[in-house]
Amino acid sequence: MKDGPYSFEIKKPNYIPSQYDNHITRHLSNMAGQYLDQDDFENQLAEGDNLLYEVYELKRPEVAGEILHGISIVHPGKVGQEYYMTKGHYHTVLATAEIYYTLQGQGYMVMETPEGDWSVESLSPGSVLYVPPRWAHRSVNIDPTQDLVMFFAYPGDAGHNYASIETQGFRKLVVEVDGSAAVVDNPRWAPPESR
Ligand code: 6PG
Ligand code: NI
Repeated sequence: MKDGPYSFEIKKPNYIPSQYDNHITRHLSNMAGQYLDQDDFENQLAEGDNLLYEVYELKRPEVAGEILHGISIVHPGKVGQEYYMTKGHYHTVLATAEIYYTLQGQGYMVMETPEGDWSVESLSPGSVLYVPPRWAHRSVNIDPTQDLVMFFAYPGDAGHNYASIETQGFRKLVVEVDGSAAVVDNPRWAPPESR
């Protein structure tokens, strides 16, 4: 971690930051229970533990005032009809936002609030997405051939809360229907008042 100002580069073709501190990899086995098609999940896992997504982070102190930043790369693929996606999370400090700038690929950001409001925004090169405070977020790669690559930035004290998403997923799923991406209801999702 640098003490003073710094700059670095994120460039084609692979968009790996010219400097970073952490390289996080998430494989199929890290997504147990996340995909609706459990049978296909098990079948694919029996064939091998595919790499679904990666995050390159620059380390900063995890305090308010700092901005954590890096690159996330979601690879192409599907489990059942559901596209490869990140686990998704709320920030532990709910009142913290996030910004994503898409560098490559095509995808969706699936979002929702603890009250059950939802939103799905499309991601394509050059698009800027603002995720307001209180919105859980999951990125989904809908392009069958190329990586979805995004730069992200969020407050240093935000933290990650995966637990509530792990139990029932997001309200909406992004699935392939007749060769294109569709947003559908998640049958496992239950409204907050019935949990
Ligand atoms: C964050 C960002 C982002 C995210 C990755 C991987 O708050 O850290 O939203 O960097 O961590 O896209 O997604 P998951 O953390 O949900 O696996
Ligand atoms: Ni986040």
